[in-house]
Amino acid sequence: MSGELGSRRFLVRPPEPAPEMLLSLPSSSIYLGKTLLLHVPFFWNPKKLVNPHICICGITGSGKSYLIKSFITRARLIFGARALILDWAGEYSEWVRLAGGKVVSFGKDGLNLLDLGGSTAHARTRQVVESLEMLTDLQSFPKQRRLTEDAIEQAFLSMGLKLHQPMRRKKRQPTLEQVHAILKKNSSRDPEAAEAARRIRTLLLSSGKSFCSTTIGMNDLLSGLVCVDLHSLPTESLRSLAGLSILQFVKEKMRNEPYRPEGGVSLFVVVDEAWKIAADERSDVISIVREGRKYGFGIIVASQNPTDVHKSIFSNAGTTFLFRLTLSSEREYVRSSLTYSDYYEEISHGMGVGTALVHLEMAQPLRCPRNFILEKVDGEPLMRLARIRGGRMDVEIEKDELGRRLLSLGLSDRKSSEILSEFERSSFSLEAERFSSLLESAGATRASVLSFLRELGASEKDLLGVYSASRPGRHQGGEAMLRLKKNNLRKNKSKGGGERA
Ligand SMILES: Nc1ncnc2c1ncn2[C@@H]1O[C@H](COP(=O)(O)OP(=O)(O)OP(=O)(O)O)[C@@H](O)[C@H]1O
Ligand SMILES: [Mg+2]
Repeated sequence: MSGELGSRRFLVRPPEPAPEMLLSLPSSSIYLGKTLLLHVPFFWNPKKLVNPHICICGITGSGKSYLIKSFITRARLIFGARALILDWAGEYSEWVRLAGGKVVSFGKDGLNLLDLGGSTAHARTRQVVESLEMLTDLQSFPKQRRLTEDAIEQAFLSMGLKLHQPMRRKKRQPTLEQVHAILKKNSSRDPEAAEAARRIRTLLLSSGKSFCSTTIGMNDLLSGLVCVDLHSLPTESLRSLAGLSILQFVKEKMRNEPYRPEGGVSLFVVVDEAWKIAADERSDVISIVREGRKYGFGIIVASQNPTDVHKSIFSNAGTTFLFRLTLSSEREYVRSSLTYSDYYEEISHGMGVGTALVHLEMAQPLRCPRNFILEKVDGEPLMRLARIRGGRMDVEIEKDELGRRLLSLGLSDRKSSEILSEFERSSFSLEAERFSSLLESAGATRASVLSFLRELGASEKDLLGVYSASRPGRHQGGEAMLRLKKNNLRKNKSKGGGERA
């Protein structure tokens, strides 16, 4: 009971950071949930942290993407921050579209790997060769590496570009096809050149035209909320190559931004499950982690397996969220970079979805714990698209909006939630016939169902295709169908196609 004992904080305080570390004004920080023990609200404030970078690990389904989506939604509102999401698995596209952002699909759109994007031909050549080294076994073949490097430089020179000067006026830039042609020309003299040409050819064949012409507006990538959907590229290496090239461009842009001594974040770059590029020290993920803070760039790296994330990301990120990890080897890997007690180790492998061990690196060194358990990420309800399909008709509506529209059709609360649950049971996609029979049995008329579908964008032709094949509704169905046919006839007449109709 002496003063000495009393001053030992562990007797009077559970191992959680002091409230002043966790609390901030809601207008300048992002609320993410409450701590497990003392239920202190945690507000993420970049100005209190050493840097705005975030590292997130956890098994599949533990809540990584949910956290990222909620975080970005609030960061846009509170900081007015932009966000660029490199989407490996195509899991963000729908959400970005619903959140009013832009989705760029690699495969449909492309990026010339030799596009200078503000750097010099010499620097770009080194970056491309470095990317190829990270993603293929080129490093084991030094002669092929040199020949590829020479061929890329020659391709730049052949377009009249100087190796050490940034492009002043807009000029045509070479593509990998030219590099392939140069290597092919040399291959009769040198079998190593033939091998190097074969590598580039394989890359060209597997990527289609995705790496030969830039149709993605690179500057547009850094405005608002943008998702680059990489999942349609056929291999992990090609996805990583695209990801690396975009990050190289982001890094160049970052270095041209003014220095921000006051802190704050203007852009978040999200790389989720990008294990090939998060694990390599040469990758620009690491450069952005090291330099981003000065320019107001934050990077969010997420992975199921922490050993796929380079140690310097763990040790440099201002915030780490560890969701549930089942393998003790993975927890050991994390623990060797971030120190936390056995108490946390014990709790962390039994955590449920959305619960995470959080580690903070504060800007001001404070003598209090830097780890705590976040009881549950208190996020944004996820938007889901409900689809209604049949024949050639395929229309979509956001789930909550659908709920509101069902009520305005005169359905009761109970009936409308029954219909929403039916969507949930069928992975948010229902046949139009099933949808209208549900609505009609809940009291809506067939005519109101048709006008509802029309408002969602279904054409008269689509509706006719679906409903002329189906059994008319019990009461008003025949009449509604007749009206639909008349509508169609009138439309065709006005287009001059009356006779065919
Ligand atoms: N904090 C939370 N509150 C409510 N629901 C959550 C929370 N975290 C996750 N979920 C739900 O759990 C499911 C899985 O979450 P999420 O997609 O974020 O997992 P993940 O860790 O990204 O998995 P993967 O590694 O497979 O991509 C989602 O349906 C999500 O809505
Ligand atoms: Mg995910």
